Amino acid sequence: MIENYIASLPKAELHLHIEGTFEPELIFKLADRNKVKLPYASVEALRKAYEFTDLQSFLDLYYACMNVLRTEEDFAELANAYFEKASKQNVVHAEIFFDPQAHTQRGISFDTVIDGLWSAVKNSKKNFGITSKLIMCFLRDQSAESAMETLNQAIPYGERIVAVGLDSAERGNPPSKFAEVFAKARACGFHATAHAGEEGPTEYVWEAINILKVKRIDHGVRSLEDPKLVQHLVESAIPLTVCPLSNVKLRVFDKMTDHNIKDMLDAGLHATINSDDPAYFGGYIGENYRSVHEALDLQQADLIKLAVNSINASFLTHTERQEYLTLFED
Ligand code: ADE
Ligand code: ZN
Repeated sequence: MIENYIASLPKAELHLHIEGTFEPELIFKLADRNKVKLPYASVEALRKAYEFTDLQSFLDLYYACMNVLRTEEDFAELANAYFEKASKQNVVHAEIFFDPQAHTQRGISFDTVIDGLWSAVKNSKKNFGITSKLIMCFLRDQSAESAMETLNQAIPYGERIVAVGLDSAERGNPPSKFAEVFAKARACGFHATAHAGEEGPTEYVWEAINILKVKRIDHGVRSLEDPKLVQHLVESAIPLTVCPLSNVKLRVFDKMTDHNIKDMLDAGLHATINSDDPAYFGGYIGENYRSVHEALDLQQADLIKLAVNSINASFLTHTERQEYLTLFED
């Protein structure tokens, strides 16, 4: 019953790392095609390794699996596999993160990555009924110089990239490290978003807002520790892209019944539900909605609010958002 209802809700996915949609079956297929040796004997052995103690323990495996992505075709196939899954869960719009540095640092050209992803993104509406955009993330555990170099590579592709973001190991890598990079990105017309307050402190959320001048906060679950920050996020209508299954898998919360998404909604925060790295965390957007519904007894009105928030929090134009919002009318 509720599963059908959740499936029927039109949803925008705003926090989704395309490299985090890499399912073990596809990892092995591409490893075979590209003649890359994996440190796992089988799909089952790889899946068994998906026991994480924190963000870093996940990132180590995540970057290792990416090593099999080599060609434009690989990136296109990865993105198309995601669109196919998302279309079955009634995702109507997707804003997709990608991590160019994780590929350029191992010798894959920026053009290979962007051309492959773009070939899927530009046809996502026609092929899967999903509008989509690309968000280029900087790896915060790399230097600001490396991020600036990556931004310079992206500038000629401004038409294909709607925003810049900031991801990877949060602790010890504050947003302020990337002040200049984000200033230049914004001057070039990119929107800005950043992971903050996932494992890192509330100060990082403040920095993302005040220094990077982001339009959204990715995760931000720790924001509730600071009442002044909550008030600011509510008053400025800065949305949070929350990823419940990720938070439990990476031990931000011990169990789903401890998750604070319901408290966020009750506080008036513009929270949305997303899947982060669904191939690694046990489910796509539908499973995320379902697990919070079950654990926290979210009502139908909460679920609608989360879905409407996702459309409103997107980087679509006002007119495009209004069009999607008509899907909620009876
Ligand atoms: N890259 C992929 N998933 C991430 C997450 N949950 N936090 C930070 N960086 C990531
Ligand atoms: Zn993320």
